[in-house]
Amino acid sequence: MKILSTAILLGAACVANLTAMAANSSDKEIIRVSTDNTDLLLEVAPNGRLYQTYLGPRLLHDTDVTNFTWRQSTGSDGSVSPRGWEAYSTSGNEDFFEPAIGVIHADGNMSTYLYYVNSTQETTNGVTHTRINLRDNQYPLEVTLNYQTYPKDNVIKTWTEIRHDEKKPITLTGYASAMLYFNEPAYYLTEFSSDWAKEAKMTQEQLHFGKKVIDTKLGSRAAMHTHPFFEIGLGSPVQENSGEVLMGTLGWTGNFRFTFEVDNAGNLRVIPGINPFASSYSLKAGEVFKTPEFIFTLSYDGAGQGSRDLQAWARKYQLKDGMGSRMTLLNNWENTTFNFDQNLLAQLMKEAKDLGVDMFLLDDGWFGNKYPRKDDRNGLGDWTATASKLPEGIPGLVDAAKDAGVKFGIWIEPEMVNPNSELYEQHPDWVIEQPNRDTYYYRNQLVLDLSNPKVQDYVFGVVDKILSENPDVAYFKWDCNSPITNIYSPYQKDKQGNLYVDHVRGVYNVLKRVNDKYPDTPMMLCSGGGSRCDYEALKYFTEFWCSDNTDPMERAYIQWGFSQFFPAKAMAAHVTSWNKNTSIKFRTDMASMCKLGFDIGLHELTSEELEYARGAVANWKRLQPVIMDGVQYRLVSPYDTNHMAVEYVGSDRDSAVVFAYDLSPRFCEKINKVKLSGLDPMARYSVKEINLMPSADARCPQDGKVYTGDYLMKVGLDLFSDRPSTSMVVELNAVKS
Ligand code: DGJ
Repeated sequence: MKILSTAILLGAACVANLTAMAANSSDKEIIRVSTDNTDLLLEVAPNGRLYQTYLGPRLLHDTDVTNFTWRQSTGSDGSVSPRGWEAYSTSGNEDFFEPAIGVIHADGNMSTYLYYVNSTQETTNGVTHTRINLRDNQYPLEVTLNYQTYPKDNVIKTWTEIRHDEKKPITLTGYASAMLYFNEPAYYLTEFSSDWAKEAKMTQEQLHFGKKVIDTKLGSRAAMHTHPFFEIGLGSPVQENSGEVLMGTLGWTGNFRFTFEVDNAGNLRVIPGINPFASSYSLKAGEVFKTPEFIFTLSYDGAGQGSRDLQAWARKYQLKDGMGSRMTLLNNWENTTFNFDQNLLAQLMKEAKDLGVDMFLLDDGWFGNKYPRKDDRNGLGDWTATASKLPEGIPGLVDAAKDAGVKFGIWIEPEMVNPNSELYEQHPDWVIEQPNRDTYYYRNQLVLDLSNPKVQDYVFGVVDKILSENPDVAYFKWDCNSPITNIYSPYQKDKQGNLYVDHVRGVYNVLKRVNDKYPDTPMMLCSGGGSRCDYEALKYFTEFWCSDNTDPMERAYIQWGFSQFFPAKAMAAHVTSWNKNTSIKFRTDMASMCKLGFDIGLHELTSEELEYARGAVANWKRLQPVIMDGVQYRLVSPYDTNHMAVEYVGSDRDSAVVFAYDLSPRFCEKINKVKLSGLDPMARYSVKEINLMPSADARCPQDGKVYTGDYLMKVGLDLFSDRPSTSMVVELNAVKS
């Protein structure tokens, strides 16, 4: 028996040898991919192919890893399936369900069989990378399965590399990032559907025989209708604090597809990857097709624990500047839209200072001269400041921000072009557009063809020019308001099937160049709200804009949804005038559970409201280490109740902050205490209600008192009321003595 688990171990060198060896001996070759909590076992079967034999809670006894068989029994009569759970199932073989890969070989043959070649496992800085090489025995086609494990965070990243040495290009018709199997009594999928201003809407359904597909074909504003993540309750519906849950997300900023298929035997296979829709990919010999990373965790204590693991992992390993602090800001989009000039902006910068935020963020509308950006029909592509509005250009704005005592950030949408632009006039061939059909537009704009290296250079140059000429520009908001329309690339010529994929790779090439040259510049990922929110993009962005919908009632659900996969520091939330029927306190308290910003004219606030807002900004800055880097507990769900409560516990459990919201309580409904989580049961905590309106008294009856962590977790605090659209923020600090 050979088990590859932690040490570096090179396996058999060629397919033929290994197949012979496996066939002639009863030895099993087992590859164990583990975190501290989870085991994924893969086994080389006597036929020389690789099968998943187990995925679940980590096995305590190493000897138990040999107890599994690669064949999965099917029938109630004890009959055994001729197929197993092939780790990366191919097309054209005895498995009649959805494969992971589809290949049309250079000679037109559409079948592929993959045999185990060898594997390695190496650990660097606590992260273990397992590579498993597979090869077709009739064609020079190689597939490498990659698994990267983060033991403490219980997160596994997996992706696949495909290459060949055939005489002519092959065509890939399917190229999943991974394939995972489960055998449970029932499966319950939670999906996150979306639209403009309706992001991260959670719905749950049971999966039965057949396929459920969640996919997007939008190309660039790719996650507009559904986000690239899901949860599956294994055995029972997903719950917050109990039950086994698979939580998976794909790092891909383009078309993605999740296929969930329940087969004839009640097994579930999960196939995440790029959506191969209109993307039969022509792959030349020697080129490597690397799929996006699929990132997943298996929680055995409900979605809450899974989220905490993903949030901690993201801060440590994935998010740009994940361990760094974040800037509070004042944005001008909701306040002014396109209508501003240099004097007004200088005034708003002073307002930012008065509010106490770190930065002023100038939004859309500052560029274009032949076609000034006075509305969304003009100027995209022409990234020079509009002289009539901003006579001193960006340098003048940077100076004005310095005078006001705040940092300066700026909005760009560099992947796009308006037909009314000098860029479009000069380079019509840089645009994704049909040469022989009528053009249709989304928000009056078109998408630049980022599969073309010249266009990549141009887009990189937009950012590089602003930053090299204005090193004091402290922040970018990078927007993307259109899906790809009129799919056709003059650059791709007869390889149009490569466009959707290579376009996204071109976007990454630009982002990587920006990040390499300007690693310390924070950037917000925005896509007409939250239509871009994946972990590959977030390597290059410090946060994303969850939604243009800043109505706090709606935000409760949106933020609850995104928090399933992202840490609060990745989720930008602004206080605006949406739903002015609610108080400034309610709106600010809702934004304060994420990365806080404002997008409102201060003239809209009374002096008391302004004083409140200044206090809330100061509180948020003081508590940033707890809110941004603490451990999050979702205490009360807006989906289950008329309220919401979310708690953050500082890493040493010395402090915590609880945000409690009364959304739409019924008349005289029963109001329950909120039991806290994650505290030290032996410690004593002072309770202090913060973010109070200047003239208001504390509403929390326990304000000013001291309780043990044990009491707070078993009995709780009175944080809810029957008053709609109200909120309470409570700070807890361990009492030293
Ligand atoms: C869409 C974004 O979501 C908004 O915040 C704003 O930046 C507009 N674009 C500007 O056009």
